Amino acid sequence: MRKASCWRYRERMWWCSGPSENFALTTGSEAWRTRAATKKAMSVRHATKDDLEQVLEIEELTFSDPWGYYNFQAALEDIFLVFAEQEIYGFLVAVCCHRDTRGAIVKVGVHPEHRRQGIATRLLETALRTLQNKGMLDVCLIVEITRQQAIQLYKKLGFKITKIINMSYEDDMSDDSFYEMKLNFSPN
Ligand SMILES: CC(C)(COP(=O)(O)OP(=O)(O)OC[C@H]1O[C@@H](n2cnc3c(N)ncnc32)[C@H](O)[C@@H]1OP(=O)(O)O)[C@@H](O)C(=O)NCCC(=O)NCCS
Repeated sequence: MRKASCWRYRERMWWCSGPSENFALTTGSEAWRTRAATKKAMSVRHATKDDLEQVLEIEELTFSDPWGYYNFQAALEDIFLVFAEQEIYGFLVAVCCHRDTRGAIVKVGVHPEHRRQGIATRLLETALRTLQNKGMLDVCLIVEITRQQAIQLYKKLGFKITKIINMSYEDDMSDDSFYEMKLNFSPN
């Protein structure tokens, strides 16, 4: 089992969730809208407790070291979902941290049967817009170097690699490598 994860990153954060916002559900990338139009009409919203069962299902299909129910419950206000009718297709956890000037993407997961349809793009676009509206100057994230699909996704949304982080674990002598990636909202 991999020991390093977005969860370790989350542990380092100062959580400062604000109240939920209403999302502009009709905005988003053209590509997403075109692809989604051929399927059910998908939208983005915040999670509620009732969604956690489906979120956990995606989490367990997606990560080898999944968060449990109580992790998601603690992050409830920070979870964005893509859904249609009663079905959830993907989720993203985004927080404000570092004295309310830096946002962070903690994790994003899309159901394996619904990938490559623009769902993660839609989640990120909504989360980034929300963080910018809350006054964040930039957004950072940490991603395992092996997660090339996610790295491509983040690059597509404008994130740049700012650091390589190598972590060693004494208990099982294993190593993990991560990229820190950052997106600046301000032009400088
Ligand atoms: C990474 C992940 C969230 C992408 O979700 P998705 O809904 O399939 O992503 P999108 O359809 O919005 O794709 C957006 C871009 O990401 C990149 N991408 C996504 N899947 C890819 C793949 N299989 N191969 C290469 N690039 C890929 C592409 O640049 C893509 O743009 P394009 O379709 O114009 O080429 C999804 O694959 C996933 O849940 N992976 C496991 C969890 C994970 O790695 N999370 C990130 C770390 S917390």
